[in-house]
Amino acid sequence: MIGRLGIHTDFQEQHLGSDVLSFIKAWFVDPLNKTGCRFLLVDSYNKERNLKFYENNGFSYLFSSEEQEREFRAIKSGSPLNTRLMYFDLIELVRQP
Ligand SMILES: CC(C)(COP(=O)(O)OP(=O)(O)OC[C@H]1O[C@@H](n2cnc3c(N)ncnc32)[C@H](O)[C@@H]1OP(=O)(O)O)[C@@H](O)C(=O)NCCC(=O)NCCS
Repeated sequence: MIGRLGIHTDFQEQHLGSDVLSFIKAWFVDPLNKTGCRFLLVDSYNKERNLKFYENNGFSYLFSSEEQEREFRAIKSGSPLNTRLMYFDLIELVRQP
């Protein structure tokens, strides 16, 4: 679970956040890493730029709609959904072509 990922404001939009995610992905498929995780998860702020950042880095939505996610989180229909759960399937990096 990736939590509170942040890049210093002086260094944002220079690909460092994407590099951190690439490092995490590479480390978790490294044979020397024995944690045995398959999925990276993140609870992203539900803001267009944040969601785009994770989408551009290969993350998908755990729930296909905001309404489904509200139901899972027991949030009333129409109430604000502040975060969206997203995942990256590490198997994509180890699958043979
Ligand atoms: C979101 C964040 C980690 C991305 O790291 P980064 O190094 O700036 O991002 P990269 O350079 O690798 O990628 C650029 C993309 O990230 C997103 N992004 C860039 N700056 C951002 C900001 N200040 N806030 C949110 N998203 C941002 C945009 O989608 C951007 O794509 P674009 O240039 O096409 O608009 C970083 O901007 C940040 O720390 N933001 C504030 C804290 C935050 O929102 N953390 C995420 C918690 S879920």
